[in-house]
Amino acid sequence: MDESEPLAELHVHIEGTLEPELIFSLAERNRVALPYSDLADLRSRYEFTDLQSFLDLYYANMQVLQTAEDFADLARAYLTRAARAGITRAEFFFDPQAHTSRGVPLSEVVDGLADAVAGARAEYGVDAAMIASIVRDRPVTEAHEVFGELMRLQAPVIGLGLDSAEMGYPPSLFEDVFARARAEGLHITAHAGEEGPPEYVVQALDLLGAERIDHGIRSLEDPELVARLVDEQIPLTVCPLSNVRLRVVDSLADHPLRRMLDAGLSVSVNSDDPAYFGGYVDDAFAALQTHLGLTDEERTTLARNSIRAAFD
Ligand code: HPA
Ligand code: ZN
Repeated sequence: MDESEPLAELHVHIEGTLEPELIFSLAERNRVALPYSDLADLRSRYEFTDLQSFLDLYYANMQVLQTAEDFADLARAYLTRAARAGITRAEFFFDPQAHTSRGVPLSEVVDGLADAVAGARAEYGVDAAMIASIVRDRPVTEAHEVFGELMRLQAPVIGLGLDSAEMGYPPSLFEDVFARARAEGLHITAHAGEEGPPEYVVQALDLLGAERIDHGIRSLEDPELVARLVDEQIPLTVCPLSNVRLRVVDSLADHPLRRMLDAGLSVSVNSDDPAYFGGYVDDAFAALQTHLGLTDEERTTLARNSIRAAFD
């Protein structure tokens, strides 16, 4: 692939870019007592057995994020690293409820992230945008409240997503919240088919109006769904390093990415939570080249798919 070719990252949680070093420096700045003796102790916990085991650490570490300055520092660190990875367009998620539920005002979160996004093109050469994501294992009423507050704050978000623990929390629960988002002209995307069944992907499309599916790899279990995804060219934002670390697939060599490309699915490569899963998008491409024999041609297709799947 021509390294100067445009590349979009469409599936990255900004809180999942919180590197161990930044956790320690923010803890010191905000006088937060961490339950880890040092960096090595923290890093020793980055061994996951499934999505929930990761989410427990991901949410716990967020306690160090408290002020707009913290959120701006977090986003700037990601944008700096994303530029190095060759990313020209970044549409990143944030989880409002992960912060409001522990007493952080939504305005601190939004102001800090928006500040970094506003300067991203000039400072890093990355065109950046924010997608608010509903935390699906929290109450539906809370999702409505937080969406209302985002609208009151006129938060500069381009879309609404759905993330966190998937099993037992079908997209159907959130139909009304997503209808409100569509009425506001927001783009829609949803995590589905990571740990959850193909049926959740169908619900995300039909009930939420999702324009993209985040992960979606379990769609492969349903040939009818695959045919539809190909026919409608619905983008799937695939995260190979995440899938291995969360044991959704056994190894990179077994990853279905090539099968998905060969089936004609519109797939892109993304990092998900790079501070936790062993790397950013450039690391993912390098690992795929090594372990899956990803060719330059396939890499070019993946990059072009990412740009075509970008919301703006
Ligand atoms: N899946 C669901 N929710 C998440 C993830 C993920 O991989 N990362 C952060 N929130
Ligand atoms: Zn994700």
